[in-house]
Amino acid sequence: MVYLSLLSSLGLISAAIALAPPLTVQDQFHTTFSDDVKVPVVLGVMSRCPDAILCESVFNRVLQRAGDKVDISLSFIARLNNSEPVYGVTCMHGQEECAGNVQELCAAKYHPTSEWWSFVQCQNFQGRDNIGTPETALKCAKTAGIDWGNSKAGQCAGEDGRGPEGIQLLQQSVKDSIAAGIQKSCTIIINGRQVCIRDGTWYDCEGGHTSADFIRQINAEYDRLNNAD
Ligand SMILES: *[C@@H]1O[C@H](CO)[C@@H](O)[C@H](O)[C@H]1NC(C)=O
Repeated sequence: MVYLSLLSSLGLISAAIALAPPLTVQDQFHTTFSDDVKVPVVLGVMSRCPDAILCESVFNRVLQRAGDKVDISLSFIARLNNSEPVYGVTCMHGQEECAGNVQELCAAKYHPTSEWWSFVQCQNFQGRDNIGTPETALKCAKTAGIDWGNSKAGQCAGEDGRGPEGIQLLQQSVKDSIAAGIQKSCTIIINGRQVCIRDGTWYDCEGGHTSADFIRQINAEYDRLNNAD
């Protein structure tokens, strides 16, 4: 299941990304097909990790172009740790990162992709050190069209990112990541296959690491899943 490649590549995000027309994620989500099977895409991440933020910005472009073919989710990386009194897990970038993870998971549980994904993008735009704070969550919920104070997502996360339901979601997500063998933030998994890692640099990305490369791989999986000729 884990796809390892001897080829690795270094590089910057293609300049083409910056030149693409400004479609919004929302535009793509309005295009729906009735009975098609979406391609599962999982990003193994930590909310305050620079590599995760980069990965998510690449996937923002992917969703703008191919969002109607994708079922995206985040799988969080942390260490299970019974000695952690609040979260039961140790987040590599501190408890604020655990709070950010909880907020993103709760937004994703109760809101459609177009909304929770904008919530995550907004968090990322506030700067790493502001991810997970109550102020950022409120601001980004508003940006994403989520009424944090009165929503199930807000209740799930709690004011301080320590809501019991959110903590449960985080622990489950960490267990799922461990079970899936996800260790590096960011790990990109398309239809169950690990296709690329970004950890300081891009590696194990045989099919490439630009948004266009991921879209091409998603299109191929989509056609396979939907038996296109
Ligand atoms: C587990 O949590 C405790 C309490 O925060 C901490 O001191 C310890 O370093 C953690 N262990 C690991 C392996 O992260």
